[in-house]
Amino acid sequence: MSASPLLLIGCGKMGGAMLSGWLAGSEAAGGVHVVEPHSASMGDLASRKGVTVHASADTVPDGLAPGTVVLAVKPQSMDEALVPLKRFVAPGTCFLSIAAGKTIGYFEKHLGSSAAVVRAMPNTPAAVGRGITAYVANANVNGGQKAQAHRLLEAVGEAMEADSEDWIDAVTALSGGGPAYVFLLIEALAAAGVKAGLPEEFAMRLARATVSGSGELARQSSEPASQLRINVTSPGGTTAEALKVLMDPAAGIQPIFDRAIAAATARSKELAG
Ligand SMILES: NC(=O)c1ccc[n+]([C@@H]2O[C@H](COP(=O)([O-])OP(=O)(O)OC[C@H]3O[C@@H](n4cnc5c(N)ncnc54)[C@H](OP(=O)(O)O)[C@@H]3O)[C@@H](O)[C@H]2O)c1
Repeated sequence: MSASPLLLIGCGKMGGAMLSGWLAGSEAAGGVHVVEPHSASMGDLASRKGVTVHASADTVPDGLAPGTVVLAVKPQSMDEALVPLKRFVAPGTCFLSIAAGKTIGYFEKHLGSSAAVVRAMPNTPAAVGRGITAYVANANVNGGQKAQAHRLLEAVGEAMEADSEDWIDAVTALSGGGPAYVFLLIEALAAAGVKAGLPEEFAMRLARATVSGSGELARQSSEPASQLRINVTSPGGTTAEALKVLMDPAAGIQPIFDRAIAAATARSKELAG
């Protein structure tokens, strides 16, 4: 049996990263139809074997019967993007959205209650194959479709199924926005290094390599993060002094992160209406 084709709607930063991942593996074996108004911005992806680019969904053949339609347009473009896609709603076709704030209920409203829908929340390290995506499926999604959605998302990093759509607001706050908090950590470490007497560029290089190297160590190690922290902390040493400040229950980073994630979670709920 030959693999079903994929239909990718929107091939910007996220859609392009996913398409690259599928082409590097075997996910695009059935061919990929891409709807992207700015095909020039797709670079060499547009001319890769098995990729057919359409400037609009209107030219996608009616009989395509895609296994999965991946929705990777900005949330504000979604209403318009879905109109010409209704004709692909069928039991054999799953709609996989990565748009922030667009709920399963929203897609059921626009595509009909029989549509198979997976709602996913990826993050930007997907651009280097190191993203993490949490997703949730509606009851119309069968086991094979869920497995394919998982594989399509895994092409740009890790993928995890959430037990409930209620988790997605906190996922958005934690891992969706998480890369921004880590980049802020680089900036804050470098700025503090400058205040401690280092030249700016020197401090920035130390901070950037420290954060990315620690991330890689955390990825490769099987030890819990708390143990990796303890491994750097000699009793009575310099790191222990810094951690007394950072781990202060009232003024350390935990209460700040608690507030930040709660604020982002609340905003995610608000935006989803
Ligand atoms: N970037 C992130 O950090 C991140 C993280 C998690 C989830 N996401 C989600 O990923 C989705 C894509 O984000 P992105 O950063 O990849 O956006 P992007 O770079 O703007 O890519 C979206 C592309 O889709 C095109 N497009 C607009 N309307 C279309 C239509 N009707 N049919 C086909 N293509 C259309 C856009 O063209 P125009 O420029 O002309 O509109 C653009 O080229 C968003 O929904 C976002 O919420 C992003």
